Amino acid sequence: MSLIKLDIAKSGVTVDEGMMARAQQANALLHSGEGEGNDFLGWVNLPSSIDAEQIAAIEAQAAQLRAKAEVVICIGIGGSYLGAKAVIEAMNDSFEYLHRKHANPTVVFAGQNISEDYTYELLEAVKDYSIAAIVISKSGTTTEPAIAFRIIKAEIEKRYGKADAATRIVAVTDKARGALKTLATNEGYPTFVIPDDVGGRFSVLTPVGLLPLAVAGVDIKALVAGAVEMEKATAADVPVEENLSAIYAIARNALYESGKKTEILGSYEPKLQYVAEWWKQLYGESEGKDGKGIFPASVTLTADLHSMGQYIQEGERTLFETIISVAEAKHTVKVEADAENLDGLNFLAGKRISEINKMAELGVQLAHIDGGVPNIRVEIPAIDEKSIGALIYFFEKACGISGYILGVNPFNQPGVEAYKKNMFALLDKPGYEEESKKIKARL
Ligand code: PA5
Repeated sequence: MSLIKLDIAKSGVTVDEGMMARAQQANALLHSGEGEGNDFLGWVNLPSSIDAEQIAAIEAQAAQLRAKAEVVICIGIGGSYLGAKAVIEAMNDSFEYLHRKHANPTVVFAGQNISEDYTYELLEAVKDYSIAAIVISKSGTTTEPAIAFRIIKAEIEKRYGKADAATRIVAVTDKARGALKTLATNEGYPTFVIPDDVGGRFSVLTPVGLLPLAVAGVDIKALVAGAVEMEKATAADVPVEENLSAIYAIARNALYESGKKTEILGSYEPKLQYVAEWWKQLYGESEGKDGKGIFPASVTLTADLHSMGQYIQEGERTLFETIISVAEAKHTVKVEADAENLDGLNFLAGKRISEINKMAELGVQLAHIDGGVPNIRVEIPAIDEKSIGALIYFFEKACGISGYILGVNPFNQPGVEAYKKNMFALLDKPGYEEESKKIKARL
């Protein structure tokens, strides 16, 4: 039984032969390495290539950080941030911060913004806790994490001295290139390598995601095992009609070609909010180029039915929705009968909250379909490591197939550079003198 169930029956899409052939060919290209961006296909067979030795090395390093620090600051942005953040949020108790006893260090994030207040408040918040850091950057030159790391490195060195700092800081970066690699070598930090052929947004199952996740107490073996199942279930020799990633890619491309330009990923589990953030980066950076691509948006339900619900129901009819549905809640809470029934809710007495949530999900689905918003449903059995691992690979594979169907290179992100040039020019970075003059004149 597959960990993922996909239902496109309410998307209005009929999968035709032509689209099936395009998806089959796209999947074949991902496996043969003959498509665009083929330098970055290391993620395709990544789950099954992770061996016990690699897991053991990550877990051993995680154990060292766990022994030393109550708070581990994980520094990175984009693909070097969102995967770990998504899985930690999904696996954590929603009120972790209120629990007095922490079995695991708290993993907090930095370098995903340049907010002075965020930085100040982070330093203040960790003042009374022992700390360590994981600094993650594939290029080793990204400005946001580099700034955060400079500050956090100084804080760690001030507290523990340089020698001990080198046991509290772990770098995850390229094997040879970039400022972070040089710095890590000079300072003697333990270092994990991001494979050359795995791009940032496809890197959650490398040490980029696995190390912070192991520190946070996530069962990374189960996460990888879930991904391995989906790797097998979407392999090159799997017929397209049985390949759920291919079917999802087909449905979303068919909807896009019919004028549905925005895909909203929704879930009725607030813990999955960052899975949607990770998904937005995966699809946004992979497909949004050459003047094309579905705009990836997200909602957390039912909360957003009271904010975005009106628009989804009756706004521009260019939307479709993909719902991550969770079959089983982990815990049981029921609505009790109330003798006075002043709130009129006795019709729900005895029902589990998850049952009510499911009816909300089904009711909203039909309402949105009636309003002209096609609906795709991706179901996982539960929010656990294995299911989340499967979901990660399901979306990654679908993204690769989808990008090739769309006719873009899903593995580059040339557009990300534009803002950097302007920012460096505005900050008078050496080498940007000409751009500096020009851009300042435009302000
Ligand atoms: O998917 C990508 O490649 C990007 O989002 C990167 O992950 C992001 O820009 C961070 O890059 P780096 O890891 O080089 O600091």
